[in-house]
Amino acid sequence: MYRILAKTTLTPVTTEYLIEAPEVARQAKAGQFVVLRVHEQGERIPLTIADYDREAGTITVVAQEIGSSTLRLKSLEVGDSLASFTGPLGRPTEIEPDGTVVLVGGGLGIAPIYPICRTLREAGNHVIAIIGARSGELLFWEDKMREVTDELIVVTDDGSYARKALVTEPLKELLESREIDRVWGIGPAIMMKFVTLTTKPYGVETIVSLNSIMVDGTGMCGACRVVVGGRTFFACVDGPEFDGHQVDWDLLLSRQRYYVEEEQRALELFQQSSQQAESQETSRS
Ligand SMILES: Cc1cc2nc3c(=O)[nH]c(=O)nc-3n(C[C@H](O)[C@H](O)[C@H](O)COP(=O)(O)OP(=O)(O)OC[C@H]3O[C@@H](n4cnc5c(N)ncnc54)[C@H](O)[C@@H]3O)c2cc1C
Ligand code: FES
Repeated sequence: MYRILAKTTLTPVTTEYLIEAPEVARQAKAGQFVVLRVHEQGERIPLTIADYDREAGTITVVAQEIGSSTLRLKSLEVGDSLASFTGPLGRPTEIEPDGTVVLVGGGLGIAPIYPICRTLREAGNHVIAIIGARSGELLFWEDKMREVTDELIVVTDDGSYARKALVTEPLKELLESREIDRVWGIGPAIMMKFVTLTTKPYGVETIVSLNSIMVDGTGMCGACRVVVGGRTFFACVDGPEFDGHQVDWDLLLSRQRYYVEEEQRALELFQQSSQQAESQETSRS
């Protein structure tokens, strides 16, 4: 169970995995995520359901290698199995026939917007997607995205591929020139914040997917607390999608920074104690 059926390198830091998980695939919907463990003692990591095939019983996830679990995942080969694969978790995207919708996917955010685009299009929407990355080598799924959208705009921050722009530039142009009914912004928290700042003056409802730090993924630990509209929610069970204009972005960004700083401090303490142990060992011998 949870066998890796295919593994594809998408960019130097991103890998796509096709996982055998019929129970999850049967119930999966756009906007949801899974929590997996690479090995029995491994930590639980949340990854968005980037695609699902109910008939084949498979789930696609795309992971960026940023730490121990995602690097361990990368070391697995086709035919290897994951220790656990729980889902689908979180609330699915609310799909309505809105009219014209724009989906903005920044960096890794391209993967989660893919199934949302497909489902919105099946519901009869005119789907425009804007995908962007820091540079061309970090972009993926351009062809796949073309299949599920009516219009696709591709940008890179450095102009090494397609148009040189931040994702918010074509978004602003669309808002200026067209009647847009709803916008989704998915990617790094700072990008989602700026997507919501771009749409706010136009009064267009904007949905974001909050990838706050998660531990259990089931509403028990409180690690994924977010403040939306002045109220506290747990992103894992109440989200991950929320009204972006109501999100307390400063709190979300400061909580993410806090975790990074705490990890840095823990690493420094670990290095200091290892050095001390090493020098005591040397002086004894
Ligand atoms: C609902 C949800 C969906 C997600 N979907 C995807 C996905 O589809 N693909 C993907 O690659 N990643 C996704 N993530 C993020 C992913 O869970 C983390 O990158 C992963 O847990 C990191 O594990 P690690 O052991 O490799 O790195 P760690 O060693 O745990 O972390 C490495 C660094 O990344 C930071 N970090 C870890 N998790 C997060 C986070 N959630 N937000 C911001 N910084 C973080 C840590 O603080 C640390 O600095 C998602 C997160 C959530 C909450
Ligand atoms: S991850 Fe524990 S409450 Fe959401």
